Amino acid sequence: MSNVTLTIDGIVVQVPAGTTVLEAAQQAGIKIPTLCHAPELTKPGSCRICVVEIEGIRNLPISCATTVGEGMVVRTNSADVVEARKTIVELLVANHPLDCMTCEKTGDCTLQDLAYEYGVSEVSFPGEKHSYELDNSNPFERDMNKCIICGKCVRGCAEIPGKNVYDFTHRGFHTKVTTALDMPLEESDCVFCGTCVALCPVGALTPKMTKGTGRPWEVEKVLTTCPYCGTGCNFQLVVKDGKVVGVESTDKALVNGKALCVKGRFGYNFIHHPDRLTTPLVRKDGELVPASWEEAYSLVVSKLSSIKADNGADSIAGLSSARCTNEENYLMNKFMRGVIGTNNVDHCARL
Ligand code: FES
Repeated sequence: MSNVTLTIDGIVVQVPAGTTVLEAAQQAGIKIPTLCHAPELTKPGSCRICVVEIEGIRNLPISCATTVGEGMVVRTNSADVVEARKTIVELLVANHPLDCMTCEKTGDCTLQDLAYEYGVSEVSFPGEKHSYELDNSNPFERDMNKCIICGKCVRGCAEIPGKNVYDFTHRGFHTKVTTALDMPLEESDCVFCGTCVALCPVGALTPKMTKGTGRPWEVEKVLTTCPYCGTGCNFQLVVKDGKVVGVESTDKALVNGKALCVKGRFGYNFIHHPDRLTTPLVRKDGELVPASWEEAYSLVVSKLSSIKADNGADSIAGLSSARCTNEENYLMNKFMRGVIGTNNVDHCARL
């Protein structure tokens, strides 16, 4: 593919033909704000916050859907660009509930960040507000009053899990993202994977379980592998004071990107559940009683050794689990073949 050379804010950039101006700017380390854009999704160019100035073009084109051209001269931060972006933020804020003090998304809200960046502190276009009912009958809360109609949830649902649960209904001010016939989510084809929640740039879609558990600056994020199946999806555990308070999908996940299933995204409350076993149990006199790891390992070693001595290594078999990581399954295979001395090892996901 041929390369194209252009200048962005005085920096000469060379990128493959077909690259967007936004991607070229990112490559040059220049930040252009976005709202409706997500690198993994199609580009509707609907929010227009990413406008830039391009010499020879009269209007301000959107950088997320404009491809680079040879010799192009782009300015990402001119007075006209800043004024246009500020007006866009003012229009979005005009009918947005300004409850940032208690909004779950505070500190992680793109609209809030943009209002801060462009100095939008009050409503410049007073008018009607929405008063949709809050829908919290799902693992996540849907507050359509906060929706900015960026359509990331619509495209994310169609393009990542391929479910097509959402679409736009009505027109103009009354435009709303709904399921077919505005049915409750549980009556739709929704699988509650939460992709829409992960993509939402504002507080319209937020996970219910993390509500009130902490602000973004109070938590630590730890990249890890999902324990639920053998796909090996990565995500970030949201940890506050040593306790897991949430799960977030991340662009750093090479296997799955932003996609997760309902279990991976919302099934983490077992971690600190009081019923969870935290110590090995050993059966004594027909009763399972708590034991130390040393005691449990010693018992396993002595039982396996005596079975092997009496009946041979092939009398022992190991069945591993798809809930373990590849590394754990590899260790199981090494243990059975190298330590026990049998090829009787299998995996529950093989059949
Ligand atoms: Fe480019 Fe929305 S980010 S139009």
